[in-house]
Amino acid sequence: MSRRVAGGLVWVAVCGLTAAGCGSGSRARHAGTAADPYVIGMSQCNLGEPWRVQMDADVRAAAAEHPNLKVIFKDAQNSSLTQRSQVEEFVDQGVDLIIISPKEAAPLTKPVAAAYQQGIPVIVLDREVQGDQFTTFIGADNVKIGREAGTWIRETLGGQGTIVELKGLMTSTPGQDRHSGFLEGLELDTHPGLKIVFSGEMEWLEPNARREMESALATNAKIDLVYAHNDPGAHGAWLAARAAGRDKEMKFVGIDALPQEGQQYVKQGILDATFLYPTGGQEAIDVALKALAGGTVPKKIVLGTRLFTKENIDTGGQAIR
Ligand code: FRU
Repeated sequence: MSRRVAGGLVWVAVCGLTAAGCGSGSRARHAGTAADPYVIGMSQCNLGEPWRVQMDADVRAAAAEHPNLKVIFKDAQNSSLTQRSQVEEFVDQGVDLIIISPKEAAPLTKPVAAAYQQGIPVIVLDREVQGDQFTTFIGADNVKIGREAGTWIRETLGGQGTIVELKGLMTSTPGQDRHSGFLEGLELDTHPGLKIVFSGEMEWLEPNARREMESALATNAKIDLVYAHNDPGAHGAWLAARAAGRDKEMKFVGIDALPQEGQQYVKQGILDATFLYPTGGQEAIDVALKALAGGTVPKKIVLGTRLFTKENIDTGGQAIR
C-alpha cells in the first residue's frame, strides 16, 4: 500500500471520528478571539428577494453577538456560476467556515464538497445540495409545508374547485418539495372535483409570477385559488388578477410569511394563507460556533413552520406539528 493511500485512509478514519465530518474546525486559520476572529464566508444566492435580505440580516445579527466572529457576505446575484466562484474564492482566501444558501442543487454540489473535503466546515442553508459532503444542512421541511398547503387548500375549497400552481425554480429543492408535498395534501385521487387548471414556473420571482398568472387568467374563465411556492409569487398573481378585475374571484396562498411581507399581505386581505419559512440565520451561527470550537454538530437541523390566516394573524399564527 502506498503512503499516499495510507494517508488517505487515515484521513477517512479521522473524519469518521468527528460528527461534524472532515469540516470540524480543525483547520481554523484564526485564533477565534476578538483580536483575531474566526472568518466566516457567507454566499447568498441573491439579494433581490426580501426573504434573502432577511436571511443575511439574521446571520449578521446573530454573529454580532460574538466578537470572535467576522462574516464576509457575498451576493451571487442569482447565478449558480457566480456562486460556485464565491465558494472557491472563500477556500482560496482561507476562511474558517462557509455558510451557503445555494441557488440550485446540482451546480453547487461539487464546490461545496471540495471545500468540505479540504477541512472547511460548510453549513448549507434552505436549499439543498446533493449527497452528504457538507457539515450541516439547516432548513424547514418543504415537503411538509407543501403538504400542509395542499391540505389547507383541499379543506378550504371543500374538495371542489380550480387551482393555479405557480412553482418556484424547479432545479432547487424547495420548488420540487413544495410541489410534491402539495400534490400529497390535495389527494386528487379521492377528490376528483379538485383540478389544477394551470401550472407555471415563476422561479420565485414576482414579475414572472405576474406574467404566468396573466396566461392563467387568459385561458381560464374561472379560477378558485392560486397556490404560489412563495409570497412574492402569490403577490404577483394577485397583481395580475386585480389588473384583470378578477382578484375577488379567487383565494391566494403563499409561503415565507415574513412579518413585513406575507404577514402584511394577510392583514391587508391580499393573501388568504401563508406558511412560515424560517431563514435559519440564527441557527447557522449557533452551529458555526460549535463547529469552529471542534464540537459535534448534527448533519441536519429541521426548522418548524406556522400557518397564518386572517383568523390567527393577530395572535401570531398557528404552529404546525
Ligand atoms: C428567496 C426564496 C424564498 C423561498 C426560498 C426557497 O429566494 O425564493 O421566497 O421561500 O427562496 O429557497
